[in-house]
Amino acid sequence: MSSIAVVGMQWGDEGKGKVIDLLSELAQHIARAQGGNNAGHTVIVKGIEYRFHLIPSGILYPHTKCYIGGGTVVDPASLLLEIDGLKKHGISYVKRLYISQYAHVIFPYHRLIDQLSEKAKGSSAVGTTGRGIGPCYVDKTNRIGIRIADLLTPKVFRSKLEAILAVKNKELELLYQHKGFDLDDVYQEYSDYAEKLALFVAPVEEMLFAAAQKKEKILFEGAQGSLLDVTFGTYPFVTSSCTLSGGICSGLGVGPSRINSAIGVTKAYTTRVGNGPFPTELAGSELDLFPDHTTAREIGVTTGRKRRIGWCDAFLLRHTACLNGVDSLAIMKLDILDRFEEIKICVGYKIDKKPLKSFPATAEELAEVEPIYETLPGWKTSTSDINLYDELPENAKKYLRHLEKYLEIPISLISVGPQRHQTIWMDRFFD
Ligand code: GDP
Ligand code: IMO
Ligand code: MG
Repeated sequence: MSSIAVVGMQWGDEGKGKVIDLLSELAQHIARAQGGNNAGHTVIVKGIEYRFHLIPSGILYPHTKCYIGGGTVVDPASLLLEIDGLKKHGISYVKRLYISQYAHVIFPYHRLIDQLSEKAKGSSAVGTTGRGIGPCYVDKTNRIGIRIADLLTPKVFRSKLEAILAVKNKELELLYQHKGFDLDDVYQEYSDYAEKLALFVAPVEEMLFAAAQKKEKILFEGAQGSLLDVTFGTYPFVTSSCTLSGGICSGLGVGPSRINSAIGVTKAYTTRVGNGPFPTELAGSELDLFPDHTTAREIGVTTGRKRRIGWCDAFLLRHTACLNGVDSLAIMKLDILDRFEEIKICVGYKIDKKPLKSFPATAEELAEVEPIYETLPGWKTSTSDINLYDELPENAKKYLRHLEKYLEIPISLISVGPQRHQTIWMDRFFD
């Protein structure tokens, strides 16, 4: 097995960053296919906490090469800040970080339109990160976007920017009564970014093809989660890209036969940040049983919002395992359940007492479902120092086996804390 996709099975923030970092020790290439700086992936090494938004979480191992694929949307200011962060921590990036020419560029009007359109939606707002992700993908699909390749060709860039600014300024004025942007200002700002980013632009697609031909080890780093997928997620409360394993092919220009397996990353419970239905969400006294948001590390990395928290939804996981073709599970944050007397797992939904056969396709229906729970005994001891499966409390093993059996997918990794060593390896990766 020489390439592995790592995808989120819930609504994002499952702990993909930690899994990618762990597996990067063995990999040579790590690539992001979609999304932008709406993502926030946390890696903790030797007490230092790194938060990646667009740079792949495998950058901390000096032997790796990291790629930002053609299916991503790049906010140059944010990316340059991330690169500065690497510099400050003494992490090398020259000849290690590559950006595809095909990636689309996020401009200030994307961010502003994202924020203004959310405001205009009022109570039906998606709860986006406000980073301009949706509006940038809209322009891409509408064939009026500006790509990294355009940014590097001054004449082309200026003429494309002039054409699109005329449209965006009109949109801002007529729809939102907001002042537009000055062509010269934006052109100058982004020409400066282009100069700084040029060093990183490379034929990512060919480089990954060559790596796959040589059977070098590649990790595909998913961003967001399966239920934020623009097609199969809880639409319209989703992001604007394909977040599933299938999106890796179109987002990086790699053929499906080059992806050998998929690890589905899930928390031992569920979280969601942003709006939209969440059947197992907890409030009140049951939520109080969870550690507080800061202790549980359930504060959004990108926006600082508190994440909504709920029980593990295995019915949802069965659905997203199917959407991704998940081969094995990485169960994260088991330690957060350490204190519970009893733990619930949702194994089905019902509406008007009738169990549903499959996962609802609409947000409206999902908002109506009543979870069907099974209750398991808690283990009430700390798991955060355990490295071997056999040393886990019996009830923790029972919980994990229950999940494995219900999903019919083996667990390959269990995480019991945010640090590298707080991991129970159940399988070998990259033979
Ligand atoms: P990602 O977006 O999927 O990479 O996940 P995030 O980094 O946004 O959120 C996961 C949070 O949980 C981060 O703060 C991680 O450091 C933390 N984390 C990851 N695995 C564990 C774990 O097993 N236990 C605990 N307590 N925290 C974890
Ligand atoms: P990682 O990669 C959790 C959510 C936003 C909002 C919706 C649309 O860290 O798991 P967008 O700005 O993308 O248009 O917002 O998607 N969202 C995430 N939630 N983790 C993420 O990324 C997310 N990226 C976007 O909160 O509900
Ligand atoms: Mg995150």
